[in-house]
Amino acid sequence: MPLDGGCINIVWHSIEATNQTNSGDNDLNPSRTTQGLKDFVGKTAFVTGAGNGIGRAAAKLFAARGASVAVVDLNPETGMQTVNQIQAEGGTAIFIRADVSSEEAVEAAVQQTVATFGGLHCAFNNAGFTGQYVGFHTLSLEDWNRLIAVNLTSVFLCMKHQIAHMLKAGGGSIVNTSSGAGVVGAPGMPHYTAAKHGVLGLVKVAAKEFIGQNIRVNAICPGVTDTPMLRTFAGEGTELERALVSSLPGGRMGRPEEIAEAAVWLSSDAASFVSGESMLVDAASVCR
Ligand SMILES: NC(=O)c1ccc[n+]([C@@H]2O[C@H](COP(=O)([O-])OP(=O)(O)OC[C@H]3O[C@@H](n4cnc5c(N)ncnc54)[C@H](O)[C@@H]3O)[C@@H](O)[C@H]2O)c1
Repeated sequence: MPLDGGCINIVWHSIEATNQTNSGDNDLNPSRTTQGLKDFVGKTAFVTGAGNGIGRAAAKLFAARGASVAVVDLNPETGMQTVNQIQAEGGTAIFIRADVSSEEAVEAAVQQTVATFGGLHCAFNNAGFTGQYVGFHTLSLEDWNRLIAVNLTSVFLCMKHQIAHMLKAGGGSIVNTSSGAGVVGAPGMPHYTAAKHGVLGLVKVAAKEFIGQNIRVNAICPGVTDTPMLRTFAGEGTELERALVSSLPGGRMGRPEEIAEAAVWLSSDAASFVSGESMLVDAASVCR
């Protein structure tokens, strides 16, 4: 059963602790958005996993705020949908098909972005998948290797080639997507938990190495977010969905747009003194 590591914790706790009484109608001010700002005019943003979910929302927000966006994804159909949506709203975007676990593809995607837009100022390394919910002792090496390749090695590869460009260009900002499973253990998801913890390790190393060269590196750790990935797991109107939602302190899942706001803020000049940060964006789900 594919699901996010953060979800595992939620399901786990919803089974263990059934005394939650949240009404589920706390909207946490969902109408607020920074779409009206134009603080990325003249900048280029490179967004992986931008064909769906959190990545698509971030690509659209970068574009709404003035950036030219490289929409990077494995899936050309959904990737082009993101580009079309951005262009329909007056923004600028190209689609680049790349498997982010391939160094050749990542290097070519970074080069194509710079060649097309003349620079690369912001990167949001977000592509990922959940893998299977398995017992630690039954996880195959093959499944371990594939998940680590897509969720962790990909982040290293993207950062490697983005930083090489940013060093020459005089700076930039990188945000990587981790998870609640990057902060706490997610039962049934040893590979996902290891990958998402690893992402935070890469952030800390690169933040320290490159702050002197004007490159900031941060991470977001989303909570349970209503994306196609999540729906594949929980369905719609199911018992499982209800159990998930009722176990969340805020009484609802996050929306991709809310996660995107945090990623784009970390990418913006408003966060000029923020580097090495791992920001939980989960309405108090895993804090303790
Ligand atoms: N949705 C959640 O509840 C949640 C919670 C915590 C963390 N996350 C993380 O957020 C990120 C985005 O998740 P989402 O929920 O938006 O998922 P999603 O499935 O909706 O979107 C992920 C996108 O990544 C792309 N992708 C997958 N493998 C790829 C590869 N090898 N190369 C290039 N593109 C690839 C997919 O085609 C898809 O468009 C992931 O890293 C995920 O682990 C999600």
